[in-house]
Amino acid sequence: MRRFALLGNKNAASRVFMNISPPLHLMATNEGIQRAAAVLNGGELVAFPTETVYGLGADARNGEAVAAIYEAKERPSFNPLIVHVPDTETAQRYGQWSDEASALAAAFWPGPLSLVLPLNEKHKLSSLVTAGLDSVALRVPAHPTAQKLLNAFGGPVAAPSANPSGRISPTTADHVLEGLGNRFTAIVDDGPCTVGLESTIIGLTGPATLLRPGGLAREEIEWILGTKLLAPNASEISAPGQLASHYAPRARVRLNATQSVSGEVFLGFGHISGDLNLSASGNLKEAAARLFDYLHQLDATGKPIAVAPVPASGLGVAINDRLARAAAPR
Ligand code: TXA
Ligand code: MG
Repeated sequence: MRRFALLGNKNAASRVFMNISPPLHLMATNEGIQRAAAVLNGGELVAFPTETVYGLGADARNGEAVAAIYEAKERPSFNPLIVHVPDTETAQRYGQWSDEASALAAAFWPGPLSLVLPLNEKHKLSSLVTAGLDSVALRVPAHPTAQKLLNAFGGPVAAPSANPSGRISPTTADHVLEGLGNRFTAIVDDGPCTVGLESTIIGLTGPATLLRPGGLAREEIEWILGTKLLAPNASEISAPGQLASHYAPRARVRLNATQSVSGEVFLGFGHISGDLNLSASGNLKEAAARLFDYLHQLDATGKPIAVAPVPASGLGVAINDRLARAAAPR
């Protein structure tokens, strides 16, 4: 029997029932995966690893389960969620397919890419997943544990990153537990994520648009499409990753620093080393995989964080995007 507590808030309308038992800590064994799938089937939340970051998953057809995600993350309700499926064929049930979608899916799925497509008429997804839009974000993750979970569950899984809204994305099970506490039912723990940045999101409801830079470099996508990606126009739904201070540590963050000033902790890159170094050899993939973990670690010191310059090419674009948001005034 799980225990629930009424979390005291100032007014009754904002009171929510929260689970106060610690989440089940499941390993990525057959038994762990089966139990996690059963939790999803029961309409409850499962945190699970993908190659990008840990996701907080719910049955995407179950409105209450999806609502629990928004609640656990305290996520603004106008932000739609990514729907995770095991393969392209399943994705085609939910999104309207095009030549561009086929080319990108063939080149990069499974992998760190999400496609926003016009929603299929008979999609059966909760409208909370799409936040009422007539488009849907779809992703086929490559992580073997995510794949096993999606296959065992047999349905679409809505999953944002498993962090409280506006905080650093989680790349280990400990980050998830630290950030979300007891606000979900189970976690499948399978160690650190290898990519470490969220998926790149491409909008295909019109001309191909880069909605969010991420774990797959835009050049690779442009090479497959044979055309440049557009920048999102201001009237389009603004991804929370595009809000100025979405990736916010508690501490103040100072960018492009060459050395720390008194009282700061320093996040190095390449030959500018510090308390931690994103990549002593200047490797951007390594830096991406470490970024959120190192921000978490430095944030835990309670001191302001200075960050060395990171080149703005390839994955460095997404790294700088996250750093700029971490440093934005709030
Ligand atoms: O790597 C990832 O993408 C991770 C893992 C768990 O898969 N997920 C993730 O989800 O980063 P989340 O919810 O933190 O970010 C989803 C992004 C949001 O910025 C949201 O606004 C955008 O996808 N999005 C979802 N549906 C959309 C739509 N229909 N149109 C435009 N943007 C959409
Ligand atoms: Mg997120």
